[in-house]
Amino acid sequence: MKKIYDELSLAAKRARDSAYSPYSGYTVGAALLCGSGKIYLGSNVENASFSLTVCAERVAIFKAITEGERDFRAIAIAGAKSGEEVSAPFAPCGSCRQVLAEFSSPDTAILVVTGEGYDLYTLGELLPSGFGKKDLI
Ligand code: THU
Repeated sequence: MKKIYDELSLAAKRARDSAYSPYSGYTVGAALLCGSGKIYLGSNVENASFSLTVCAERVAIFKAITEGERDFRAIAIAGAKSGEEVSAPFAPCGSCRQVLAEFSSPDTAILVVTGEGYDLYTLGELLPSGFGKKDLI
């Protein structure tokens, strides 16, 4: 697991390069590993109408879903002010946790990239008692 998690962390850091964030000046990259073995990248995309901004995680997730993926295994996220190296970790926002849950399990890994490596969480830890398909039956 360590090798693929290291690869995922590096991909998330690199994905920051594609961020469009002129308003917050905060750049985020995400790398989503699916059951197929494929990795999908995302970065945050801001808008002059601020509330239309989309987080890096959801960009990666929607790319994966529209390519047919239905099984999320792990996501790495890396964020820092534009032009700065990733150092302080941050946790993914609540909306992204909920969207990630659609095709995840409580064991799906969330890697929050730090300066040296990553902090490892599970979705079950970050979104306990989440709303899901089971509630609509
Ligand atoms: N952002 C993300 O991309 N992911 C998160 O989980 C939290 C926040 C972005 C949205 C916005 O472009 C910038 O970071 C500042 O909130």
